[in-house]
Amino acid sequence: MKTLLQLTSSIFADGGQSSRLAEEFVAALRLEHPGAQVIRRDLARDPVPHLDAERFGAFLAKPETRTPAQAAVVGYSDALIAELKHADTLVIGLPMYNFGLPSQLKAYFDHVARAGVTFKYTEKGAVGLLGGRKAFVFAARGGLYQGTPRDTQTGYVRDFLAFLGVTDVKFVYAEGLAISEASKAQSLATARRALRELVQPETIAA
Ligand SMILES: Cc1cc2nc3c(=O)[nH]c(=O)nc-3n(C[C@H](O)[C@H](O)[C@H](O)COP(=O)(O)O)c2cc1C
Repeated sequence: MKTLLQLTSSIFADGGQSSRLAEEFVAALRLEHPGAQVIRRDLARDPVPHLDAERFGAFLAKPETRTPAQAAVVGYSDALIAELKHADTLVIGLPMYNFGLPSQLKAYFDHVARAGVTFKYTEKGAVGLLGGRKAFVFAARGGLYQGTPRDTQTGYVRDFLAFLGVTDVKFVYAEGLAISEASKAQSLATARRALRELVQPETIAA
């Protein structure tokens, strides 16, 4: 592991359970890889704008025809993508809000999915251009969803990352956080155990 990108999206910033688990994982990884660079991007503190027709139009415009405003939009997206490409390891904090992922994380995804940049269309369909990276996702939920059709997040995040070429993705869940104090404590302890098990040479890129 040389460069890790830590993406958090809890509206409670560092205090969110997903952010805390992501942070704990990164801290444990740093002990194993002291020379690794860690880039932190807090999507709640520093939100990515929602994608709209104007911004998407900027992505589609040919470089030589872009207005200054379009160039700025593309430059912003390019910078997010450069940061992502620079990383060999992605750590994502994934809270559940209103049965889905935080809109802050979705807005980020909307700015890094760029045809010809992070994926390309081929005769066989879309191919991701960010292969070779590992991703670790720390999901925090008030209720219980894992392994049920009501888990709208796992499949979506897996599909999205695979679309960009990132297929080596591991999830750690802290669920039932709103059910009771006992359920919360037990779930966080289970998540912490799972997290520690992931900090192994065979799980992490050399
Ligand atoms: C606005 C809001 C909406 C929420 N919606 C859900 C939900 O749909 N399902 C659920 O299980 N928990 C829900 N919760 C509980 C969160 O999933 C839980 O607090 C979790 O810890 C959020 O992650 P975070 O602590 O990293 O922010 C919601 C919490 C908030 C603040």
